[in-house]
Amino acid sequence: MSDTQFAPFIESDIAHKKVKLSSGEVIDYQFGEFWTNKQRQAPSIHEISYRACFKPQLPDYFIERFTNPGDLVYDPFGGRGTTVIQAAIRGRQIVQNDINPLSIVLTKARLTPPTDAELATRLKEIPIQKGLKSDLDLSMFFEKKTFQEILSLRQYFIDRRANKKNDHIDDWIQMVATNRLTGHSSGFFSVYTFPPNQAVSAKSQIRINEKRQQIPEYRDTKKIILKKSKGLLRNLTEEQRENLNKAAKTAKFLNTTSNTTKTIKDNSVQLIVTSPPFLDIVQYVEDNWMRCWFNNFDAEEISNQITVPKDLTKWNEIMSDVLAEIFRVTKPGGIIAFEVGEIRKGSIKLDEEIVPLGEKLGFTTEFVMINTQEFTKTSNIWGVTNNDSGTNTNRIVVFKKP
Ligand SMILES: C[S@@+](CC[C@H](N)C(=O)[O-])C[C@H]1O[C@@H](n2cnc3c(N)ncnc32)[C@H](O)[C@@H]1O
Repeated sequence: MSDTQFAPFIESDIAHKKVKLSSGEVIDYQFGEFWTNKQRQAPSIHEISYRACFKPQLPDYFIERFTNPGDLVYDPFGGRGTTVIQAAIRGRQIVQNDINPLSIVLTKARLTPPTDAELATRLKEIPIQKGLKSDLDLSMFFEKKTFQEILSLRQYFIDRRANKKNDHIDDWIQMVATNRLTGHSSGFFSVYTFPPNQAVSAKSQIRINEKRQQIPEYRDTKKIILKKSKGLLRNLTEEQRENLNKAAKTAKFLNTTSNTTKTIKDNSVQLIVTSPPFLDIVQYVEDNWMRCWFNNFDAEEISNQITVPKDLTKWNEIMSDVLAEIFRVTKPGGIIAFEVGEIRKGSIKLDEEIVPLGEKLGFTTEFVMINTQEFTKTSNIWGVTNNDSGTNTNRIVVFKKP
């Protein structure tokens, strides 16, 4: 990848501090602005919003330093796919897991972006039907005709998938449409809502509409899909597109809990960059209910499997199982970058929990990185300031498998 997209980091800007954890380990803590303002724009293909996603600069930092082209990079809590998309762009092979099937919808299609002509032709071909009915009343979000278009798109994807006819063009359109459902501008299908793509409940939307004295206006869904697609692909180079296509040939997507990833071979992964759910911060399924509905997924069923432990003991138990599975799949010499937060006003530092868990399983702790920029999650781009229950530093435990 050309250096115009990520400016190099200056190592002399890192501050080191030896920290003795309550578990007894003495760890090298590194503080610095590892990614953020110093860097220029990331590849635009990452611009798919998802709760608690990290910036592409974060996985890129590790991909560049700890892997070579062709190595296997894995994210067990993949979300929108930031790690694997960036790894693919850099010519690495990829595997991703997430318990939420939306993760596959959002990630896989971006390995094989369609051409402008393919996209325009397919959009014309997708039939917009009249009189489709839905059990859900979404009139507080969408104007009537817009809703018919959304229902038509939804039905089209269901049929194509049922008949195994969906191809890379359909998958791309489904990914973009999923991303355009609700938001804060006319670039989304819905009337103004906030935050974008974390669909609030129907009741809350009625309140937003009353407060803003707004009613949903017609939105041309196909036009919006075309425009967002252009935006996503605006700075993708030919080389990056080729790398993505190449990664697609061997890419593996799993939809299971991260402690049961049997189909990933022992000792096969060179690098893991991941961010697990932190205690009770993010309700991934509730936030994604509309996206789940659009993709015909049962949000409640997913909700039952997703990890949102409320107490630290349970969280540690789950993470210990996950780390054991990660240990199995990692190559000797392979690196794990495990991003956790500082939660509950800094009273719980999850890095200090993770270090002893990993060491017990046989990992060695290389260092812990604290990215010192104040607000690092993409939620900040949307103007959401972190609140008490949020997290405002990237704390990354870096393990090595001996
Ligand atoms: C912090 S997010 C990861 C975001 C990702 N780094 C990105 O940039 O999009 C955590 C993810 O873990 C998933 N998840 C929660 N519990 C899980 C489990 N037990 N096994 C696998 N995935 C799980 C959630 O669905 C969510 O997508």
